[in-house]
Amino acid sequence: MAFLDIAQLSKRYGKQTVVDNVDMQIQAGEFVTFLGPSGCGKTTLLRMIAGFETPSAGAIRLQGEDITAAPAQKRGIGMVFQSYALFPNMDVAANIAFGLKMQKRSADDIRRKVAEVIALVELNGRERHYPHQLSGGQRQRVALARALVVEPRILLLDEPLSALDARIRRNLREQIRDIQRRLGLTTIFVTHDQEEALTLSDRIFVMNQGKVEQEGAAETIYTQPATEFVARFMGNYNLLDAQQSHALLGLEISGHLAIRPESIHLLADGQRDETALPAVIRQHQLLGNIIRYQVESKGTLLQVDRLNRNAGDLLARGTEVRLQIRRNDMREVR
Ligand SMILES: Nc1ncnc2c1ncn2[C@@H]1O[C@H](COP(=O)(O)OP(=O)(O)O)[C@@H](O)[C@H]1O
Ligand SMILES: [Mg+2]
Repeated sequence: MAFLDIAQLSKRYGKQTVVDNVDMQIQAGEFVTFLGPSGCGKTTLLRMIAGFETPSAGAIRLQGEDITAAPAQKRGIGMVFQSYALFPNMDVAANIAFGLKMQKRSADDIRRKVAEVIALVELNGRERHYPHQLSGGQRQRVALARALVVEPRILLLDEPLSALDARIRRNLREQIRDIQRRLGLTTIFVTHDQEEALTLSDRIFVMNQGKVEQEGAAETIYTQPATEFVARFMGNYNLLDAQQSHALLGLEISGHLAIRPESIHLLADGQRDETALPAVIRQHQLLGNIIRYQVESKGTLLQVDRLNRNAGDLLARGTEVRLQIRRNDMREVR
């Protein structure tokens, strides 16, 4: 039996179906991500799990218990939102203690639990600070502590890092993952950022228009997209239609052929391989540690990534090259 079991769950607003017959099973201790573009229904799905939104159809079971209609505060779920949603007139300790006070826990109990989570999220010394005296990253750690202090059965995080700048975002995501592992806490993390999903998750559910488009381990989702949508969303896949696949590679396919830019091997002067595809460099884009070339072969434009090893490596526009693409690195998608 799955820890969290979602069966045929739908949410409609008027005529619009925003969560469409979703089935998913999440195991105890897993860190999963709902990944998808803005508007695909991630927040709505999460809010139904939390109990802030009533499903139009379907069921949610947590540890075997049907919680579909249970009130939010009875579910044992902790949630962190993109906007910190802290009480501005309460200090850090009071913000964190709030949930425990609602549960009418003893003052001693509250003091002990609050101190514990403050240490866990590394906010020692900030207990008497007010939200406006904290940085964005610190505020989000208060929000995390507030969700953790009640010892939820499951932790839900809705784009908790989106409002933070890049460096803080990376630090905090490491910290969230570390805490999650230490507590063995079943966690659902929502994001529209594929890099965030790939670095954090045991398993990713890629969502599109209210449906789960593909689920799988991060590595699988990245290297084996099942659909054109996933290939487009996950990276910078080259997507060849049937005609291009035939012209370029002599392959007969029905959907699209997805090929990752880093899996195409680019041979420049001197390197001979008569079986490789002749191509011409059209453009390049410097992406820091890699150079992304746009190359043309038989009328088709392809993106090819190459490590930016040294300054002399750059291939000028118009350079004739050859491309090696292994059959294993081509993936047919729906
Ligand atoms: N309370 C609501 N009433 C009507 N439509 C809503 C409501 N909440 C969300 N939606 C619509 O549902 C769709 C999915 O929204 P949401 O779950 O917030 O997506 P995401 O979190 O993936 O960006 C959007 O088209 C949004 O406009
Ligand atoms: Mg959202």
